[in-house]
Amino acid sequence: MKIIIKNEEQIKGIKRSSQLASQTLDYLTPLIKEGVSTQEINDLAYQFIINHGARPAALGYMGFPKSICTSLNDVVCHGIPSSAVFFKKGDILNVDVTTILDGFYGDTSRMFLIEPVTDEARKLVVETKKAMLKAIDSLAPGKYLNHCVGRVIEDYVKQFGYASVRSLTGHGVGVEFHEDPSVFHFNLGFDDVLLEPGMILTVEPMINASDNYQVRTDPDDGWTVRTVDGALSAQWEHTVLITRKGAEILTLS
Ligand code: MF3
Ligand code: CO
Ligand code: CO
Repeated sequence: MKIIIKNEEQIKGIKRSSQLASQTLDYLTPLIKEGVSTQEINDLAYQFIINHGARPAALGYMGFPKSICTSLNDVVCHGIPSSAVFFKKGDILNVDVTTILDGFYGDTSRMFLIEPVTDEARKLVVETKKAMLKAIDSLAPGKYLNHCVGRVIEDYVKQFGYASVRSLTGHGVGVEFHEDPSVFHFNLGFDDVLLEPGMILTVEPMINASDNYQVRTDPDDGWTVRTVDGALSAQWEHTVLITRKGAEILTLS
């Protein structure tokens, strides 16, 4: 495992890219409405990112065909935008944006609700965000990653009968798209990575509205990850810097 401790110049660059990724989601927010296709949102995101002098990291990444991920309802992550998929009332949706600006990566995702949604769907989205923020709040140098993220998230969501996906993780980020270490969102049960100032990681729990954490990748497109039981799934993601005192969220506008 090779964890990159970022220097001041890298931190500045990664912060700028992270801010742009967050601003891309701000820009998309009022455009995500009933009747709009996921392809239209993809194209608007592409233009916004290019117009700001950056590139969408997803485009062409390991053959991914689009600029962002759009993951609806039982899709856990890596949903591929399509001109045949239109937002409809009751949908919950994750939009995941990763930018490359001056060579630096920023990675963030948010949930969107196509109102009206069920109380169950809204609760899943709200509690998944709280789980992410609780984990981020607990990050600090000198602590172990699993103690702050995996344990905190699993302990928080289990009270609702939810399961945290195990086979997909957060990651180091900034100089590359996916760096060491992997950030597990369930309790590993042991001390793993000792946190240090200058580490930059994503926290991006995928939480199923079910007691089943299992997922399956669509064999036809090789990307779309769904819950095995058809349950709804939600995800939120921030890129965070470990500081001398705690952690700073970089993917803020
Ligand atoms: N942005 C995703 C993450 O949070 C990765 C997407 S990879 C892609 O790590 F190829 F599907 F875009
Ligand atoms: Co990520
Ligand atoms: Co992401």
